[in-house]
Amino acid sequence: MISLSASNSARSGKRLLIDMPEDLAVRIEDLSITYKINVDTKKTLKNAVMRASKGEKVRMRTVEAVKHMNLDIPHGTVLGIVGANGAGKSTLMRSIAGILPPTEGRITVNGKISTLLALGVGFNPALSGRDNIILGGLASGLTKDQIEAKTEEIARFADLPDGFIDMPVRTYSSGMYGRVAFAVAVAMTPDILLLDEALSAGDAAFKEKSFLRMRELVKEARTIVIVSHALQTVKDLCTHAIWMHKGEILAAGEPGAITEKYLEFLKVGTLPSNDEDF
Ligand SMILES: Nc1ncnc2c1ncn2[C@@H]1O[C@H](COP(=O)(O)OP(=O)(O)O)[C@@H](O)[C@H]1O
Ligand SMILES: [Mg+2]
Repeated sequence: MISLSASNSARSGKRLLIDMPEDLAVRIEDLSITYKINVDTKKTLKNAVMRASKGEKVRMRTVEAVKHMNLDIPHGTVLGIVGANGAGKSTLMRSIAGILPPTEGRITVNGKISTLLALGVGFNPALSGRDNIILGGLASGLTKDQIEAKTEEIARFADLPDGFIDMPVRTYSSGMYGRVAFAVAVAMTPDILLLDEALSAGDAAFKEKSFLRMRELVKEARTIVIVSHALQTVKDLCTHAIWMHKGEILAAGEPGAITEKYLEFLKVGTLPSNDEDF
């Protein structure tokens, strides 16, 4: 049976799957990510020189977006991540994608990653849909032939009106944009698919199609990480779930139980008293 272990090492540091790392898609060890923001409002050269001459430091505010997180994600897991705004979900996803380096700790990824972190991030708006798909494909290591074969598939999947595939992406409606982005991410047949709030794209028919495509990926034992506010989606699609709160994993386990706890928190505002149930 696939199990998922998660903790914040500051609390417990336990890990269940230490003896089977080859089965892991992602291993996150003691991961912390801190943003540093310059809080000086007037960023002029004169101010900088004045401060330097007085020996003053630049004032920085730090945000600990992810705090000492440990998480093993076995291949074939469909992991749902729930949590309030600012919990650190997107930061974690960007970090798994390799876009954001850890401030502390380590992330090991075993497999080809395809991401849809925010809709269409990575698309060049001045280029056509086709050219963006080619660039995305090349970046994912596909050959020109493989990409050409996929381009039509992507255009079909995304329900692009005739001709739009050769129009600049900036001329797309937000719905078209979102559908193409999703179609590209799933068409690259990734080992690991990261979807951050991506399932909100499209109408009911497109959602249904996205769902089916994701179920196919699940059947092929791909690994999928989904950040979603749609708790029903997490329940229907995911094999495991974690609840993130202020950079920490508050609970991890069976999606039904985790979404239930999170929903309870949303209703009454109390946090669970322990994290021992995963
Ligand atoms: N680029 C950034 N620079 C500075 N702070 C950031 C940046 N991105 C996110 N944060 C902060 O990090 C915390 C976690 O944000 P985020 O990962 O976007 O959470 P979520 O996706 O769960 O809403 C928040 O406090 C947010 O304000
Ligand atoms: Mg987010």
